[in-house]
This record gives sequence, structure tokens and C-alpha cells, in this order.
Amino acid sequence: MSDETLVLSTIEGPVAILTLNRPQALNALSPALIDALIRHLEHCDNDDTIRVIIITGAGRAFAAGADIKAMADATPIDMLTTDMIARWARIAAVRKPVIAAVNGFALGGGCELAMMCDIILASETAQFGQPEINIGIIPGAGGTQRLTRAIGPYRAMEMVLTGATISAQEAYAYGLVNRVCPPDSLLDEARRLAQTIAAKPPLAVRLAKEAVRAAAETTVREGLAIELRNFYLLFASADQKEGMRAFIEKRTANFSGR
Ligand code: CAA
Repeated sequence: MSDETLVLSTIEGPVAILTLNRPQALNALSPALIDALIRHLEHCDNDDTIRVIIITGAGRAFAAGADIKAMADATPIDMLTTDMIARWARIAAVRKPVIAAVNGFALGGGCELAMMCDIILASETAQFGQPEINIGIIPGAGGTQRLTRAIGPYRAMEMVLTGATISAQEAYAYGLVNRVCPPDSLLDEARRLAQTIAAKPPLAVRLAKEAVRAAAETTVREGLAIELRNFYLLFASADQKEGMRAFIEKRTANFSGR
């Protein structure tokens, strides 16, 4: 399959839907697929007309992990020189909100990819797990850190040490997913949520995402400083003036994105 079809992109107004499209390999995240995903994400991030991005998977998986066949014979130097996993950080660095619509298996790097997104919706058929231990490695794209912050150290430790998968309902109960939807309505639910966020002033959305992310990635002191800086900064935006004036004048705000 050529690189152009590894990730399919559908644009619906301000919402981009990116579909991982390697269903015969359960969307295993080969270097080519990751590169294609990064290209699409960075394109969306730089396109002012797109405000929210949804990532989902074709077939019965969201993604069943990094491509084991591409890594099986690798040496540490191969991993280092090809930058096999480090470049995944560019996925987490996208400034616009990214919603994961997890339609099936989200295992290993697939679970880590979902956790790089900002909101996770799961189909009733989704399964989450970090099964790397079963193949002699550990999570390498953030699983030990993001999963621990998302569901707590004891549950994360059990998942990482046993490699056991959890159902969508368990993931919901653990706080890993925002909500669980019937498989047929997963994408529509993601679309609805994306459209709601897309209607908000984009500068505030961007700075809100950055501040909430800081809670998981920095100390409370640094996070509070980022929040306050972003809060003050938004008073330079036209949308802050418009949003507050519209509230006072009891009308709907007309946001310009400036
Ligand atoms: N890499 C490469 N190929 C994969 C894959 C992966 N992670 N996961 C599935 N596939 C391929 C299978 O090899 C198979 O291909 P063939 O038809 O050519 O044999 C095809 O997808 C379908 O898979 P199965 O026949 O295994 O399907 P199943 O329904 O019996 O099992 C599954 C589904 C439980 C998800 C099983 O495929 C599985 O356990 N996959 C591997 C999960 C895993 O270990 N992920 C972690 C990878 S390492 C990682 O992600 C590191 C990191 O932190 C970044």
C-alpha cells in the first residue's frame, strides 16, 4: 500500500477526520504510517480552516501497536538512527485539539497514540492495553507515563506488567476514555464533539489545550504560570473582546479567530 493511502483524510468544514488505513495489519504503526500521520497532522495544524482533528482506524482496530515486524530484528543503533519512536512526539505536539475515536484494538503504541490525543471516545468494542511485556519490551511511546497519569499507578502497573487488555467499559471506569458509544455512532459522536469545539474561539482553544496539557507534563507551579500567562494573553485577542461584549449585549458571539 502506498504512503498516500496509509492515512485517509476527510475534511468536513472545520473538522479533519484522519483514518489509519492498514486494516490487514490491524493498523500496526509502521514508520511509514507514522510518517504519513505526522504529515497529515502537521498539515491540519497549519491550516487555519481546520479547527479540530479526529483520528480513527479502518477495520477492527484503532491501532494494534508499533509494527512488530518492522522492529523484530532491529538493534538499538537502528532504533536510534531511524528515530523510530522519538518522532512520535510530533503527534503529541499538535496545537489543535485531537479527538481519538477508538473503534477497536488500541494496544501498545495504539493505546499510546490514543493517549497523545486530547479526548478519547471509545466504541463498545474497543480494547485498550500495553501488551509490550509479552514480546520482551516495555511501552516506548509514553505508555508508562501517560497511562499512569490517566488511570493511577496501581492500575497502570498491573496493565504494564501483565500486558492484559481492558474493555472500553473498564477504560471508562478507570477514567481513560471520555465515553463509550455503540460502534455505529462512534464517529458521529466524535463529529458532534469536534463541531462543538470548532465553534469556540480558536485562540482560546489552543491556549486552553496548552494549559491543560501542562497539568500532566509539568509541575503544578509551572502549570499555574502557563495558565496565568495564557489567560492574560487572551485579553489581546479580538475574540475575547467579542465574546465578552456579546455576553453583555445578550447576543451570540461572532468569533473571527483573531
Ligand atoms: N505489528 C505488526 N503486525 C501486526 C501487529 C503489530 N503490532 N498487530 C497485528 N498485526 C498483524 C498480524 O501479524 C496479522 O498479520 P498476518 O495476517 O500477516 O499474519 C494481522 O495483523 C492480523 O492480526 P492477528 O491475526 O494477530 O489478529 P487476531 O485477531 O488474532 O489478534 C491482536 C489481534 C490481539 C491485536 C493481535 O494481533 C496482537 O496481539 N497484536 C500485537 C499487539 C502488540 O503486541 N502490540 C504492541 C506492539 S509493540 C509497541 O507498540 C511498542 C511501543 O510502545 C511503541
